Order: sequence, then structure tokens, then C-alpha cells
Amino acid sequence: MSLGRRFARLTTNAVVRRPGLWRLFRGPLRRQFDRLAPQWDEIVTADHLAGFERALEQVEPPPRRALDLGTGTGDGAFAVARRFPEAEVVGIDLAGSMIEAARRKMAPGLADRLRFEVGDASALPFEDGAFQLVTLANMIPFFDELARVVAPGGFVVFGFSGGSGTPIYVDPTRLRVELERRGFTQFAELEVGRGTSFLARKAGSG
Ligand SMILES: C[S@@+](CC[C@H](N)C(=O)[O-])C[C@H]1O[C@@H](n2cnc3c(N)ncnc32)[C@H](O)[C@@H]1O
Repeated sequence: MSLGRRFARLTTNAVVRRPGLWRLFRGPLRRQFDRLAPQWDEIVTADHLAGFERALEQVEPPPRRALDLGTGTGDGAFAVARRFPEAEVVGIDLAGSMIEAARRKMAPGLADRLRFEVGDASALPFEDGAFQLVTLANMIPFFDELARVVAPGGFVVFGFSGGSGTPIYVDPTRLRVELERRGFTQFAELEVGRGTSFLARKAGSG
């Protein structure tokens, strides 16, 4: 594994266990992804979100508002917007260069309901329960914040393009424990090729 990938893995493992450590990792990780942004679409494979997209098929009813955290160059947000043609979708990323690249990829038919913003998933500028769907593709989860912005009855979807070999990877057992603690009650694990995904639903009705 390259140094960059090892650093992403180290950051993920540290922050999932101790979210307070994020303040130490935030700057270096942002700089790493700012540097990677120009090549990102060549680094990922064409089907890298296959597992993530399979999990989206289980999201019912369709969300009115959806949030893609750590959107990178936007592929997860584009997949959500295509899958749910009525939804308003926001893609957030820490790295400004990633967001600029995502904006350049905007399809004309989506611009009225999909937007990309620089932001930090550990401190989101959205009200409690603002989204019926929150997605994370190859992204470090900040469980308190993501659970806060999911509406009652809403969903969270995680995708890991290389399964447990993905640099930013969280074991499904850990995902389940953390989400159960925060009011999620229904869970599903999926595998598509090398990729894995995880779906969870919050208790209540939206
Ligand atoms: C491995 S990339 C995945 C990009 C995209 N989701 C994909 O699968 O192609 C992880 C992304 O998460 C972003 N990221 C990491 N920590 C973040 C945070 N706390 N808030 C927002 N974005 C973050 C990085 O800048 C990077 O673009």
C-alpha cells in the first residue's frame, strides 16, 4: 500500500475510535486529497461505486433531500441524483480542488437540484434531520454528525470500492455498533465484485 493510502487508513482507524483526533489529521488529509484531485477520476475504476449503487436500490421511499459526504469529484452524488430524480442532492468535501472538479463534471440536467460545497463532515452546516439519505463512498464516518442530520426513518449508505482492502474502510460490525447506539435499527450488508456496501435505516417515520 502506498504511503498516501496508508495514511488514509491510519487516519480512518484513529478517527473512528477517537473522533477528537480529527483536528490533528484534518490538515494533512485535506492537502493529500487536494493534490490527488486532478488525477482522481483516473485513479478510480469505472465500476468503483457498483456496491454503493446496489445499496441505493434498497432505499425506499425515495429521499426528498440527500447528502453525499466526502464526495470527492462527485460520483456518489451523481449516482444518488440519477437514482432519485425528484431529490435535491448536496455533495460535501473538505478538499476545495475535489469540489472544483465535481462542479466541472455537472451535467446540465442536474444543475437545478444538485450542488457541491466545501465542508467538513465532522461539523455540518445543516439542521437536525435535514436529509432522508446520507451517503459515504470511501469516506471516514463521523457518526455523531451523520446520525444527527439523518431524518427519522431515513437511510445511511456506505460504499467501499475495494471491500476490506479499501484504504478508507470501516468494518460492518463497527458500523452497526456505532449506528445502533445512535438510533438506527435496520441493517444490510452487500457485496458486488470487489466492493462492499452497508445500508442502515434510522428508527421512526419521516
Ligand atoms: C477516498 S476519497 C472518496 C471520494 C469519493 N467519495 C469516491 O468514492 O470517489 C475521500 C474523500 O473524502 C474527503 N474527506 C475526508 N474527510 C472529510 C471530512 N471530514 N469532510 C468532508 N470530506 C472529507 C476527502 O477530501 C476525499 O475527497
